[in-house]
Amino acid sequence: MKGLILSGGKGTRLRPITHTSAKQLVPVANKPVLFFGIEAMAQAGISEVGIIIAPETGGEIREACGDGSQFGVQITYIEQDAPLGLAHAVLTAEPFLGDSPFVMYLGDNLLQGGITELVTAFEANQPDALILLTEVDDPQSYGIAALNEQGQVVRLVEKPKDPPSNLALVGVYLFTPLIHEAARAIQPSARGELEITDAIQWLVDTGRRVEPHVVRGWWKDTGRLADMLEANRLILDVIEPSVQGELIDSSVEGRVIVEPGATLTNTTVRGPAVIAAGAKVTDSYIGPYSAVGRDCVITNSEVEHSILLAGSKVLHLDGRMESSLLGRNSTIDRTPQQPRAYRFMIGDNSHVGIL
Ligand code: DAU
Repeated sequence: MKGLILSGGKGTRLRPITHTSAKQLVPVANKPVLFFGIEAMAQAGISEVGIIIAPETGGEIREACGDGSQFGVQITYIEQDAPLGLAHAVLTAEPFLGDSPFVMYLGDNLLQGGITELVTAFEANQPDALILLTEVDDPQSYGIAALNEQGQVVRLVEKPKDPPSNLALVGVYLFTPLIHEAARAIQPSARGELEITDAIQWLVDTGRRVEPHVVRGWWKDTGRLADMLEANRLILDVIEPSVQGELIDSSVEGRVIVEPGATLTNTTVRGPAVIAAGAKVTDSYIGPYSAVGRDCVITNSEVEHSILLAGSKVLHLDGRMESSLLGRNSTIDRTPQQPRAYRFMIGDNSHVGIL
């Protein structure tokens, strides 16, 4: 069994963060989303992992994941010239996959509980494909499956205007090499992509066995800000507390990680929260569900339910910052001079909410 992680694509919904960085490297609880997928493969005993990368962001993904030894797997990078769809990514990876069955994992997805049970079920039942489904409130945003009364998959449709059910395809799939034939048999969709949903539909239409599994734990597609913050919350809820940084006149309550090399001065941290190495937090309050990245500076401010990427700064804020995602090395500052006014330097496609 091999692993294929899709980490190409454009990441348009997380702009401006993804103008400069791959969306799969945006961290939740200070760990890049992509790492959770690689760790899930390692846990399931899959040692050969291919990662699909885009020409624009492939370099930083290679840099972050290396040869895979930090995860106990062997990584092969596979460049996809353009984001022409998930089934196109599978075809691009065919030389790596050969005639091996494989787990395909979308690099921006997070699945609680990993994939070990699924790999075991796939190997035991030997279907032609195994798909994961979960109920969602907004079926127009996902690939959707319709099941018949016997619980068999009869129809799959990508982001339908008129959804046949509310069962979304989760971004983890188990395939036999038949999927290559399926991907070659289909045509690009209206959005110009070779859709994996269409390839799986081809398997159904040609009488192959597609086994559906409804996921029991939580699942997140972190492609949008709200989902990213939600994933951050779910992961922080289960972190192992460990306070190793320096605390000067400061206190921490609840599930909190303060990494060695972080300094808290005259600050209260109420967990779940994580403060990375090199961060300096002074005269501030860090509230639940905050992930403060490496070398961040927070001074005289209140931060809650937010993700701060490495090197970002929050200084002298008047109110509390919440439900926010700050890009690398970004600064939010309030200047003390009169007249009191907002001053901004904002990247393309940014969003700032002010009351
Ligand atoms: O998250 C689950 C959903 O993922 C499924 O319900 C849908 O059926 C499936 O099509 C997919 O939809 P998305 O619109 O969310 O896919 P997205 O374009 O975000 O791509 C998913 C991952 O695959 C992401 O990490 C980027 C990568 N990718 C995407 C494309 C289109 C590639 O590596 N190559 C590509 O050509």
